[in-house]
Amino acid sequence: MNFSNQLIKWYKQNKRDLPWRNTKNPYKIWLSEVILQQTRVTQGLSYYYKFIENFPTISDLANATEEEVLKLWQGLGYYSRARNLHFTAKHIAFNLNGTFPVSYNEILKLKGVGEYTAAAVSSFAYNQPFPVVDGNVFRVLTRIFGIETPIDSHEGKKTIYSLAHELIDSKRPLLFNQAIMEFGALQCVPKNPCCADCIFKLNCYAYINNVITSLPIKQNKTKQRFRYFNYLVFISEENTILLHKRIENDIWKNLYDFPLIETAEPIENIELLLTQSDFLQFKHQLHTLTFIKKSTPIKHILSHQKIMATFWRVHTSAISKIKKDYTEINLDDIENYPVPVLIENYITSFKELEKK
Ligand code: ADE
Repeated sequence: MNFSNQLIKWYKQNKRDLPWRNTKNPYKIWLSEVILQQTRVTQGLSYYYKFIENFPTISDLANATEEEVLKLWQGLGYYSRARNLHFTAKHIAFNLNGTFPVSYNEILKLKGVGEYTAAAVSSFAYNQPFPVVDGNVFRVLTRIFGIETPIDSHEGKKTIYSLAHELIDSKRPLLFNQAIMEFGALQCVPKNPCCADCIFKLNCYAYINNVITSLPIKQNKTKQRFRYFNYLVFISEENTILLHKRIENDIWKNLYDFPLIETAEPIENIELLLTQSDFLQFKHQLHTLTFIKKSTPIKHILSHQKIMATFWRVHTSAISKIKKDYTEINLDDIENYPVPVLIENYITSFKELEKK
């Protein structure tokens, strides 16, 4: 039996029943793929259901505000994906008459859609023979076929793409693509794969040569950037707080956080902190601050950045003096604003402390 037949047979016996596998609707398939680029299936499911419930059609998504979309996306990270999702929904709804493009090349032109997503949508919705190549596929193919070229090199990518093109079952591309991803997700997993009961055991290069743990090979380990965030959480006597909309081209664009002073080093003392910042004028009003509480530093890890965040809770009657670029809201209204998980967690713990 050839590779594709073996794989599809395995898939039919082992596949999970997932909602985006029971539809041919390109909008739902595209949505599921954008979500699944961000997270594992178990977590992705709840986001998928939330989006479909709130936006059953592409035109519902197009008519939402960006803030509503970001709010539903909250917790998934890489918020540019959500902004692109919204942008593309609007493009399809308003410029393409609500009709999702059908050909691979037209799908590929959509904003936020790369080769992987175009192949996924065109094969799952329209059964077109374009192989999906994602992290799962890299792992499965490098191990079984013994590809030792780094997968983050041009050469490595070319090798895998051409192998995937050769292997794809041109009569059953949908099944082949679902099967190879499912195989990577359930059987040929990154750590401790289940080789003992693997259907490819007798032919798998990595298993036979005992190199499972070293494949696939990556040449460039991504460098981590360290950042120190000092958040000033101003709270008034009326329980209002100041929020800051992040409009810069940095992480969390268009989400809300608190007035922020970023420093090159951890800062222990609020006077030092204020001296470094445009809150300087506020330093002279320190006596108006009735209560300052510094949180322990909280580590927040993103794909290429490690953030150490310290929250300085500042109770003050002078909140209106600091307002300038900030939005003053009632603490209870924060649920209506899209915020990074770091901020959401802080607010939750803060509210719990208040209750005690
Ligand atoms: N990961 C990415 N796409 C997927 C899909 N369609 N099914 C399961 N896992 C996936």
